[in-house]
Amino acid sequence: MSPLTPIHSRNRSLASLVSDSMVLWHLMRGQRDGDNRTDHAQRLEDFYAPQAAHYDDFRERLLHGRQELVERLAPPPGSTVVELGGGTGRNLEFFGARMLSLDRVDVVDLCPALLSQARKRCERWPDVARAVQADATAYKPGREVDCVFFSYSLSMIPDWRRALANAVRMLRPGGLLGAVDFYISPQHASPGTVQHGSLARHFWPRWFAHDGVHLSSNHLPALQDYTDRVYCEERMATLPYLPWLRVPYYLYVGRKRAPHPAG
Ligand SMILES: C[S@@+](CC[C@H](N)C(=O)[O-])C[C@H]1O[C@@H](n2cnc3c(N)ncnc32)[C@H](O)[C@@H]1O
Repeated sequence: MSPLTPIHSRNRSLASLVSDSMVLWHLMRGQRDGDNRTDHAQRLEDFYAPQAAHYDDFRERLLHGRQELVERLAPPPGSTVVELGGGTGRNLEFFGARMLSLDRVDVVDLCPALLSQARKRCERWPDVARAVQADATAYKPGREVDCVFFSYSLSMIPDWRRALANAVRMLRPGGLLGAVDFYISPQHASPGTVQHGSLARHFWPRWFAHDGVHLSSNHLPALQDYTDRVYCEERMATLPYLPWLRVPYYLYVGRKRAPHPAG
């Protein structure tokens, strides 16, 4: 920062450094151990509650491709949308002016601390958006929906296969399923897909597991098993404060197949 930097922007840089330090401290401490589902909800709350107010700023530089995912989903007016593992509801803002044309957007999450941020955000679209405390593996929106997405949540849901099956169940045939998340390739990636080296395949899952994020080579194939691919890209992302490292992530949009006609 130059000595000519205005005071208000120096104060802002200092504030964001303090806020980043807090988030980094909680990321370094990681999640406590435990393995049943009640523990999972409690672990999320213990992990996120102290950083909930600073969550969005830091994740802006960590969770790549979220805006693009929302833009690719582009739900038409009147659509019903569900985000499973929606956290603070940050992704609502990526819908922009489209939000007002939607029928309903549910931000579903298990963590009360993040949901209280989401609830405040939802007040901007009181007729459309709502924050719902529920498990992504079991949430029922009460009707078929047009679009369901996971933004960096599939890797945090222990029974992610059940969450995915639940997402597909609530979608209408022809509806869109979206996901963006960190991942790693299998040891022998299929032709036409990205192959990560063994260092990356060993390093990243261990690094993220500390914070309850479980990178998998199974998410992307499962998404493709459930839906017809509309868009899929495998990419590398930068990390805050670690500019020399690149972590793999994918962006996927698929369409739910129509049921086979009887007979
Ligand atoms: C990395 S955050 C991503 C939040 C948000 N989607 C975003 O893009 O900012 C992962 C979220 O998944 C939520 N989560 C984890 N397991 C869940 C479950 N079983 N049901 C609902 N939400 C869950 C966490 O509470 C957390 O908010």
